[in-house]
Amino acid sequence: MDKLVIKGGKKLFGDIKVSGSKNSTLPILAATLLTDDKCVIRNVPKLRDTLTMIKLLRSLGKTVEYNNHTAIISGAANSSTAEYKLVSTMRGSFCVMGPLLSKFRHAKVSLPGGCVIGIRPVDLHIKGFKALGAAIEVEAGYVIAKARQLKGNLIYLGGIFGPSVLATGNVMMAASLALGETIIESAACEPEVEELSEFLIKMGAHIEGKGTTRLVVRGVKRLHGADYTIGPDRIEAGTFVLMAAATQSTLTIRNIKYAQLLVLVDRLEEAGVRFKKGKDSLTVIGPKKLKPVSVTTYPYPGFPTDLQAQFMALMAITPGVSVINDKVFPDRFIHIAELNRMGANIRRDSGVAVVEGVKTLFGAPVMASDLRASAALVLAGLVAKGKTEIHRIYHLERGYEDLEQKLKKVGAVIYREKE
Ligand code: UD1
Repeated sequence: MDKLVIKGGKKLFGDIKVSGSKNSTLPILAATLLTDDKCVIRNVPKLRDTLTMIKLLRSLGKTVEYNNHTAIISGAANSSTAEYKLVSTMRGSFCVMGPLLSKFRHAKVSLPGGCVIGIRPVDLHIKGFKALGAAIEVEAGYVIAKARQLKGNLIYLGGIFGPSVLATGNVMMAASLALGETIIESAACEPEVEELSEFLIKMGAHIEGKGTTRLVVRGVKRLHGADYTIGPDRIEAGTFVLMAAATQSTLTIRNIKYAQLLVLVDRLEEAGVRFKKGKDSLTVIGPKKLKPVSVTTYPYPGFPTDLQAQFMALMAITPGVSVINDKVFPDRFIHIAELNRMGANIRRDSGVAVVEGVKTLFGAPVMASDLRASAALVLAGLVAKGKTEIHRIYHLERGYEDLEQKLKKVGAVIYREKE
């Protein structure tokens, strides 16, 4: 396995281009199970997770060609069982459950894995499928759903930590071929769920309220093939914005949707970062001195939990005290220990992280523990004095396309070495 080596202290400059959204791609690829027609999905990022989803579709009988960021999916699925081997590596794969149940009236899907960011239940997915008339059993690590006919219903899909992105997608997909009308209240309104709605509508689904907390899905008899281009990855974009701010750089991030980054821009303007907005680009002007800013993560349009670790790394080098609270995944704080190994001063206090900014971080060998925590370590490595070695970088490869090449092109000293 490779490790990533970063020599810190370099400013970034020029332009960096954001890839297609991982979290939009995964459910959209799963949605192609709802039809036997050909679907063409463009701007699919080449990531470990998207390749896993492609493998999963193939294991279910689909033919998938994937070249130059375009996936062409055709043929009929011939299995309703999603195996442990594939689902356990990535939570996103659980969203094949809705389409499989809809198509086969039976689905057997392994309980998912994914990032180590606390307990991640699937009760909301199950609640939604049950409301549509499915009988559910959990047996030997698999969720098994059966239904003679899925029927529309009024479903409240909020959980104790708010709405669920993948459960909303899963239930929306199952409802799109169900009999009658389904209303999902407290739906997640993340841009990735909105993109899934757009794709389903292109396939012939009747969905109202896309991008809102109330989705009305009128079941249709059949969905057809569609051609869809995945939008930009707002989390990758946000990660680059934070890297520019941390390294006091002027960097232009291309292929972004500004409206999806509002909360990050708002928090960072308060910290002293300046921005210039282009048509589909954003130039970040990192200041010499940052001010500490506290954040609490919430469902969209709140501050995204997927940028929490990277924001914490930025606050770690910002003199003063900031408080970071994660209301979406309250235990998502494993990165604290690794950042502290690099000289940060962060402690957990009554469920929140208290960050006392230090002047400098120092390069050190560190371990990537989950996808976004790994990005936080890269950010820390870019500003640290000396050499940072990041081990277990397969986490990064799950969600950041060509990260090392992209950063190299804008001036970072970053390369891979064999362990
Ligand atoms: C998706 C994203 C992930 C992001 C997260 C929150 C994908 C592939 N992943 O994950 O990157 O961090 O949204 O924006 O799109 N919950 C329940 N019961 C459930 C489901 C979730 O209690 O059945 C809880 C979770 O534990 C968490 C909260 O709801 O506390 C939100 O999780 P959810 O939106 O479901 O995350 P994912 O869809 O898995």
